[in-house]
Amino acid sequence: MLAAHAKGLATCPMTGPVLLASEQLREYLSIPPECQINMVIALGYPAEHPGRLPRKEVDDILTIVR
Ligand SMILES: Cc1cc2nc3c(=O)[nH]c(=O)nc-3n(C[C@H](O)[C@H](O)[C@H](O)COP(=O)(O)O)c2cc1C
Repeated sequence: MLAAHAKGLATCPMTGPVLLASEQLREYLSIPPECQINMVIALGYPAEHPGRLPRKEVDDILTIVR
C-alpha cells in the first residue's frame, strides 16, 4: 500500500469481502486452495487528493512507563 501510494495510486484494505465472499473471490481470481485469503486491497487512481489528515501530537497519545 505504501508502494502504491508512492506511485500516485490509492488503496483501501478490506477484510469484509473475505468474510462475506471468500469462495467467490477464490473462484474469480483463481486462488488455489493451499493459499489463504486474508485481505482484499482495492487499488486505483484516486478521484480526489485529500490533504494530510489531522494527527494528534505524539505526547497526546503516548505514555512511556518506566
Ligand atoms: C484490517 C482492516 C480491514 C478493513 N476492512 C474493511 C472492510 O471490509 N470494508 C470497509 O469498508 N472498510 C474496511 N476497512 C476500513 C477502510 O480500509 C478504511 O480505512 C476506512 O474506510 C476509513 O477510511 P478513511 O481512513 O479514509 O476515513 C478496513 C480497515 C482495516 C485496517
